[in-house]
Amino acid sequence: MDLKNRTRKRIAVIPGDGIGQEVIPQAVKVIKASGADVELTEFDWGAKRYLRDGTTVTPDGFAMLARDFDAILVGAFGDPRVQSNIHAREILLGMRFKMDLYANVRPVRLLDAALCPLKGVRPKDVDFVVIRENTEGAYSGAGGVFKQGTPDEIAIQEDINTRKGVERIIRYAFECCRSHEKTDGSPRGNVLMCDKSNALTYAGGLWQRVFQEISGEYPQLTTKHMYVDALCLQMVRDPRQFDVIVTNNMFGDIITDLAAALQGGLGMAASGNIHPGKTSMFEPVHGSAPTIAGKNVANPFGAILTAAMMLVHLGMTAEASKIEAAVLAAVRDKKTTEDIGGTMGTREAGEWVAKRVNAPL
Ligand code: NAD
Ligand code: IPM
Ligand code: MN
Repeated sequence: MDLKNRTRKRIAVIPGDGIGQEVIPQAVKVIKASGADVELTEFDWGAKRYLRDGTTVTPDGFAMLARDFDAILVGAFGDPRVQSNIHAREILLGMRFKMDLYANVRPVRLLDAALCPLKGVRPKDVDFVVIRENTEGAYSGAGGVFKQGTPDEIAIQEDINTRKGVERIIRYAFECCRSHEKTDGSPRGNVLMCDKSNALTYAGGLWQRVFQEISGEYPQLTTKHMYVDALCLQMVRDPRQFDVIVTNNMFGDIITDLAAALQGGLGMAASGNIHPGKTSMFEPVHGSAPTIAGKNVANPFGAILTAAMMLVHLGMTAEASKIEAAVLAAVRDKKTTEDIGGTMGTREAGEWVAKRVNAPL
């Protein structure tokens, strides 16, 4: 049977480390409450497994995920006991790179004015999406260390930008802008490219030329450009100006933490690692937050909104809408964790959303 065409979708769940272990069970609970026709299979990849038996990714693990699952739901990786962070690189960057999940889609949506640290900013003022290149750039792992431990030590970290890689992510951003409405139903119309082409001229030049070329295929959309430093200022000064932002791997990482702050913090930010037509991976933007792990204080909404994003990707839009509405209700009623002003624990906030998802309207 063709696994990809069955109605019941198979989801691999990898909670990972730290608060990933706490927020993912809440996301799973909410998925179940939504009635989504899914089969969930959990994997124990993460620091604990690595420290126990040295395994980061099981042999053939990425091929297995691509073959046997329709989507992957991930928590976070990072544990102070694994200083090298090798397991996080092999598992997380492994999925992104080896499964060729080239578009890291990070929506930035303010659910309630009370969550935004900026004065007078309303939900409709923060409704944009960052499309981050996810398979190359400074994350490629090209480079090396020479004469390590000597006064002459040299460390090289290459920033790889391929024509194919740049072209497909920029095209993805234009397609996203063309086909995805804003939350209020109005069309999107602007694609902004963020780079540092004034200083990093070789890579920046390629991005500039490709952006120019592809924008010609979308005459109905307008374009903008900002250097990444200026963009950081503008994101805080006036987030209304952003619609779709496309950028490279490293800038995309950095600006989406800043953008998370506009939404109420890292606990609220969702993301997808997508290759259209291939098994894609969904994870909250935040990390394993070791200092708050195990205390039942982590905000589960980023993970829950990530689960909703995954269900949309799998075509279960009704279930996803129910989940998003329930999170919105929780935020408005302050049925939340402390980071966004409530008094609930991780489990209690997740439970409230799960119940609300099930409640008759
Ligand atoms: P982090 O995202 O884990 O935490 C940054 C800050 O945000 C901390 O103050 C933390 O307490 C807070 N925070 C994060 N998520 C929260 C939530 N759900 N609710 C409430 N507060 C939350 O980033 P970090 O501290 O730089 O990194 C910790 C570890 O996580 C490192 O090992 C890092 O490499 C890893 N990391 C992993 C991922 C991932 O797996 N996708 C992403 C980012 C960082
Ligand atoms: C993220 C994280 C990762 C990244 C780390 C853990 C490698 O910060 O997903 O935003 O830099 O991509
Ligand atoms: Mn990050």
